[in-house]
Amino acid sequence: MLETRNLDKSFGAIHVTRNVALKLEKGERRVILGPNGAGKTTLFNQLVGEIQPSSGSIHLAGEDVTRLSVADRARRGLSRSYQKNTLFDGLTVWENLGLAAAIALGKGTGLMRDPLHDPEVIETVKEVAALVNLGRSLHAPVAAVSYGVRRQLEVGIALATRPKVLLMDEPTSGVGPEMSRGFHRLLKNLPRDLTVLIIEHDMDLAFDVADTITVLNYGEVVFDGLPEAARNSALLKEIYLGSWEDA
Ligand SMILES: Nc1ncnc2c1ncn2[C@@H]1O[C@H](COP(=O)(O)OP(=O)(O)OP(=O)(O)O)[C@@H](O)[C@H]1O
Ligand SMILES: [Mg+2]
Repeated sequence: MLETRNLDKSFGAIHVTRNVALKLEKGERRVILGPNGAGKTTLFNQLVGEIQPSSGSIHLAGEDVTRLSVADRARRGLSRSYQKNTLFDGLTVWENLGLAAAIALGKGTGLMRDPLHDPEVIETVKEVAALVNLGRSLHAPVAAVSYGVRRQLEVGIALATRPKVLLMDEPTSGVGPEMSRGFHRLLKNLPRDLTVLIIEHDMDLAFDVADTITVLNYGEVVFDGLPEAARNSALLKEIYLGSWEDA
């Protein structure tokens, strides 16, 4: 469903992505681990099209999308939840989800109709709100909701575009343990045919939700395999300098 071949990226003399080959099957949940600065976010930026790789290629559902824009990749079903704030603070949670759904459904530009009252949009918002547990905050202005709810909403907005592949960059960063558990449940409840790639620092969550784990170190894939094998890997223990024991 999502594949990279010999992906390489340098910023001047800094080599950030080294010959990365990834292959995700449809419905696979893959967690990317790796220390700070390993190149995880830079890899995501290349996958979604925000930056161009120096060499190598990216394939989505069999199509080479390496040269396509972010929007063209999104239209083909690649969606990302952002870590940086991409929410409309003045609108409610419902309206944020509705706008994302309306744009994805091609209903965002009509002048005559209010896209937020479109039945298909309403249906999508209801479904997504249930998936990401936003039912209780739906009518609150985004400016008034907690940080954790904002993070959930960011995932919700990505889902409202009805993606085939969902990329999440540290969805639990900065949230407390309870919210983190909420994310566990959320991830487990996602449609089983959705392909998910998550960058995650929380080991519990990583081992719990992952079908497969990829570890990046200095831009290079140093492990690719099942969570059990990752847990027992001496190399990974070394990379994480003992933080593994906390997992
Ligand atoms: N636009 C850029 N120009 C120069 N160097 C960059 C650029 N973007 C990223 N880098 C460098 O690439 C390396 C990898 O950064 P990246 O953000 O991908 O790491 P990461 O694995 O996501 O780290 P973290 O766990 O802290 O989020 C870092 O050394 C960073 O300074
Ligand atoms: Mg990062």
